[in-house]
Amino acid sequence: MTKYVSKQPNAEGLIEWTSDEDSTWSTLIERQTEIVKTRASKEFLEGLERIQFSRKNVPQHHVINQRLKNFTGWQVEIVPALIPAKEFFTLLANKKFPAASFIRIPEELDYIQEPDIFHEFYGHVPLLTFKEYANFMEEFGKLALNAAPKDRSRLFRIFWFTIEFGLLNTSQGVRAYGGGMLSSIHETVYSVESSVPKRLPFDTLNALRTPYRIDIPQPLYYVLNRFEDIYGILDQDIMGLLQKSKELGDFEPLFEPAPSSEL
Ligand SMILES: [Fe+2]
Repeated sequence: MTKYVSKQPNAEGLIEWTSDEDSTWSTLIERQTEIVKTRASKEFLEGLERIQFSRKNVPQHHVINQRLKNFTGWQVEIVPALIPAKEFFTLLANKKFPAASFIRIPEELDYIQEPDIFHEFYGHVPLLTFKEYANFMEEFGKLALNAAPKDRSRLFRIFWFTIEFGLLNTSQGVRAYGGGMLSSIHETVYSVESSVPKRLPFDTLNALRTPYRIDIPQPLYYVLNRFEDIYGILDQDIMGLLQKSKELGDFEPLFEPAPSSEL
């Protein structure tokens, strides 16, 4: 359930953002771009340079698409605030990144549970200019479509601990590449600098066995050694690992239970 509704494009295919919505975008991008400078992976920062988001207005989907086309051919697609899992994975499998056309209200500037356009554009589009990340998204969409629907939430843990909340080892220490933390002013800092969360080397089987909650700062992050390694994750026998993860069972959650805690 969400109180947000995506805005529909007008006859010219443009979303008519209000000045208040543009102002929210402007505030978010100005402050986040300062925060990520010393905490995001160099690929993310390079992706920001490639995409050149407007600092003043919520970007139009077609502008983003024009820029993405030159790098990986991916496109962002206007979707409702929440879409069924099958539709989400179908879009990914077709090199289309679902991006809901609504932006958070000022009261939720610092934290929003629903993925709004700031999360989708700022958190994911810069890295969609890199083929390893884009190829991972596409392959993940295909894998999830081929999986039994009952297995998709477990499979999504791989996506969660990479695309949404992945960390990377670098010579300067850990850096963030997950869109979940990089679109959050608090979790960008917390994920990289706090001594509270655990940081473990990424391991696909372990990720498949790790439950998570979407509404709290993550108690555990998995860390890749190289950005390029993301695509290699799916070179493994994922469905075999999924089966093994079910046989071995989940790790003890590092959080209190919450209802509906997964996709
Ligand atoms: Fe996301």
